[in-house]
Amino acid sequence: SNKGALLYEGKAKQVFETDKADEVIVRFKDDATAFNAQKRGQVDLKGEMNNAITTLIFEYLNAQNIETHFISKISEREQLVKKVSIIPIEMVVRNYSAGSMAQRLGIEEGIKSPITIFDLCLKDDALGDPLINDYHAIFLGAATREDLSEMYALTEKINKILIQLFDEIGIILVDFKIELGKTSDGKIILADEISPDTCRLWDKETMKKLDKDRFRRDLGDVTEAYVEIYNRLKNHLNK
Ligand code: C5P
Repeated sequence: SNKGALLYEGKAKQVFETDKADEVIVRFKDDATAFNAQKRGQVDLKGEMNNAITTLIFEYLNAQNIETHFISKISEREQLVKKVSIIPIEMVVRNYSAGSMAQRLGIEEGIKSPITIFDLCLKDDALGDPLINDYHAIFLGAATREDLSEMYALTEKINKILIQLFDEIGIILVDFKIELGKTSDGKIILADEISPDTCRLWDKETMKKLDKDRFRRDLGDVTEAYVEIYNRLKNHLNK
C-alpha cells in the first residue's frame, strides 16, 4: 500500500491514507505528552518500541481470536491497519489501584482489586477526557446499550489474555486503556495501540515501573523501560 495524505495527527501517532479505502497507515512518533498535554517531551525510540510492542500484542490477540485492526508492520515506525471509526470512549481497565483512581479515591497505589474495574472516559481533548458512565455514553450518543455490552465483554476478554501474557514475562498488568472501533460492517474490534504508553506495567520481582509513569513522574530510564518490555515480549513469543 502506498502512503497517501495525512488524515489525522494525534499526540503520539499520525494516520495516513492508503490506496485502499478500508486500510490506513499508523505512524508512531517519539513525542510524549501527559496530564492532558500540559507536560510534553520526546522519548528516544518510543515510536519504534510502541510500534513493535503493539505489533507483538495485536498479533498475539489475533491468534487468540480477538479481532483487532492490525494487518501488518510495514516499517520501524509504521503499521498497516483496517480503517475503523473509533468509538469516542476510552475503555480503562484496572486490576490494581494506581494513577487517577488512586488519587480520586484517596487510596494507595498497588492494591489488588477483587473485581475488574472499568472506567469509561470520553475522548475529548478540550474537556480533558472526562470520566463518564454508561448513562452519559448513551446520552451523548457515543455508544448504544448494545455497543456497551459488547465493549465490556471484549475488554474483559482482552484483560484476561493480557494479564496472563504479562505474568508470563514477569510483569504485573496494573491497568491499561484501549480504544475500540467499528468496521464498515458494524463489527466492534480492538484499535489504536497497546504499549507502555497505555498500560501500567510493574516488574513482579522489583515492582519497578516499566511504563509511561517513568515519563509522567520524571523517574528516568524511560527508553530503557520500553526496550525492556519489548525484549521480554519478543523473547517470550519467539519473534
Ligand atoms: O491516568 P489513569 O490512572 O486514569 O490511567 C489508567 C490507565 O490508562 C493507565 O495505564 C494509563 O496509561 C492509561 N491511559 C491512557 N490514555 C489516557 C488515559 C489513561 O493510555 N488518555
